[in-house]
Amino acid sequence: TFVVTENCIRCKYTDCVDVCPADCFHEGPNFLVINPETCIDCSLCVQECPADAIYEESDLPDDQRHFIELNAELAQVWPVISEAGTPLPEAEQWIDQGEKLQFLER
Ligand code: SF4
Ligand code: F3S
Repeated sequence: TFVVTENCIRCKYTDCVDVCPADCFHEGPNFLVINPETCIDCSLCVQECPADAIYEESDLPDDQRHFIELNAELAQVWPVISEAGTPLPEAEQWIDQGEKLQFLER
């Protein structure tokens, strides 16, 4: 399964959404997650993300492994997003800032 990690927070470019053949992405206020129950492991989304926020589960950096649970949890409560939208207005400023989990809005 593929997992969205910290660098998506406060950016939410949404380029990932358009390439996903299985509507796996669920949208919150400032982050997207992948539903592990619908992801078909095609890997198409990985290259699309300008923030390089998507990893295959086994490739996750150690400090991002808690995002496995977070994607599964939030996919249960957030709605599916099936078309890309506009990135958050301050996406450029927040990309690669690190320590963004504290800003996650639910
Ligand atoms: Fe969608 Fe494929 Fe990415 Fe899974 S790996 S979220 S199916 S684009
Ligand atoms: Fe987030 Fe990257 Fe998609 S920033 S919304 S995972 S394109």
